Amino acid sequence: MAELMRGLEGVIAAETKISSIIDSQLTYAGYDIDDLTENAQFEEVVFLLWNYRLPNEEELKTLKEKLYNYMTLSPRMYSHFEEYTTDKVHPMTALRTSVSYLAHFDDDADENDEEAMRERAIRIQAKIASLVTSFARVRQGKQPVKPDPSLSYAANFLYMLRGEKPTDVEVEGFNKALILHADHELNASAFTARCTVSSLSDMYSGIAAAVGSLKGPLHGGANEQVMRMLFEIGSIDKVDAYLENAFANKQKVMGFGHRVYKNGDPRAKYLKEMSRKITEETGQKELFEMSVKIADIIKEEKGLLPNVDFYSATVYHSMGIEHDLFTPIFAVSRTAGWTAHILEQLANNRIIRPRANYIGETNRKYEPIEAR
Ligand code: COA
Repeated sequence: MAELMRGLEGVIAAETKISSIIDSQLTYAGYDIDDLTENAQFEEVVFLLWNYRLPNEEELKTLKEKLYNYMTLSPRMYSHFEEYTTDKVHPMTALRTSVSYLAHFDDDADENDEEAMRERAIRIQAKIASLVTSFARVRQGKQPVKPDPSLSYAANFLYMLRGEKPTDVEVEGFNKALILHADHELNASAFTARCTVSSLSDMYSGIAAAVGSLKGPLHGGANEQVMRMLFEIGSIDKVDAYLENAFANKQKVMGFGHRVYKNGDPRAKYLKEMSRKITEETGQKELFEMSVKIADIIKEEKGLLPNVDFYSATVYHSMGIEHDLFTPIFAVSRTAGWTAHILEQLANNRIIRPRANYIGETNRKYEPIEAR
C-alpha cells in the first residue's frame, strides 16, 4: 500500500483548471489574483471560475440579472430562521442547515445534467448571500431587506445586511475581499464538496458539506477566532504576555500559518492594507497596530506569516459586521469556488475513495456479552 501522508499533505488528488498555487502565487484560471483584485468585479470572477474565461459584456449582464432574480428566498425560509433564532445557533450552523433546506425549493435538485447544474450554481451563489444576510437580520428581530437590481453582488450583500446603501469605499473593499476568498485550489472545503458529489450526490449536499468543513477554526472559522483573540488581548501592551502564554501552552494562534504557503499568503497583503485604512477611518487604529505587533512577534518567534483570515477579521469588524458573520461571509465568496469544483468534478467524475492503513487489532473472535 502507498505511504501515508498525514493530512494528505503533498498528495495530488484532482486535476483542475479553476485555480492554482505555484511558487506561492495564486491564480484563478490563469489570471493572477493581484490582477483580478485590482481590476475585476466579483461577478466576473464567479463567471471565470465556472467557465475558465472572463465574460463578455452580454454574459456579465445576464449573470448579474440572474443573480439578482435568484436572491429572493421563499417566505418559508424566512420563517424557518425564526426557529434557529430561538435556538441561538451560530450563523454557520444556520447556514449549513439552510443550504440544505434550499434543496426543498428546487424542483429538480437531483437533476445533474450540466445545464441544470450551471443554473443551480447561479441560484446557490445568489441565495447564499440572502441566507446569510436575512438570518443576520431575523435574529435581530428585523425584516429581511430585498436586493436592489442596480447594485453589484458585493454592494447588495452589504445593503441586504444593513438595510442602508454602502459607500463606494466599502463596496470596493468588500468586492476585493470576495474576490480574494473565492477559490483556493484543493482546500479542505473544496475537497469536501468534490468528495460529496463524486458519489453523484446533488449540488446542495456538496455545498452543505463544504459549509460544514469551512466552519472549523483551522479553515474558515479562523477569522472569527482572530477577532476573539484581539478582544481577549484588549490592548497593545498586553500582546507580549498573551503570546508568551500561547507559545508556552503550544496554542495555535489563529490567522497564522498555512499548509501550502510557507513564505506568506499572497492574499494577506491586500487585507492588511485594507485593515490599515479602514481601522484608521473608523477610529480603531489600535486594532491594526495590535495586529501588526502580533504578526511581528509570530514571525520572529515561529517563522509564521499571516494568512487570509488574519487581517480580514479587522476589515469586517471595522465595517460594523458582527464577528460570527465573518465565516459565513467567507462561505458566500467561496461558494463560487465550491460550485466550480462541483461542476468540474462531475464533468469528469470518478468516485473519490482512497484507502486507509489499518492499524487496529486483528484476528479477534466475537465474545458473548457476559464474557466481556
Ligand atoms: N500558531 C502556532 N503554531 C503554528 C501555527 C499557528 N497558527 N500554525 C502552524 N504552527 C506550527 C505547528 O504547530 C507545527 O509546529 P511543530 O512542527 O512544532 O509541530 C508547525 O507550525 C507546522 O505546522 P503544521 O501543523 O504542519 O501546519 P498544517 O499544514 O498541518 O496546518 C494550518 C495548517 C493552517 C491548519 C495551521 O497553520 C493552523 O492551525 N493555523 C491556525 C488556523 C488558521 O489560521 N487557519 C486558516 C488557514 S487559511
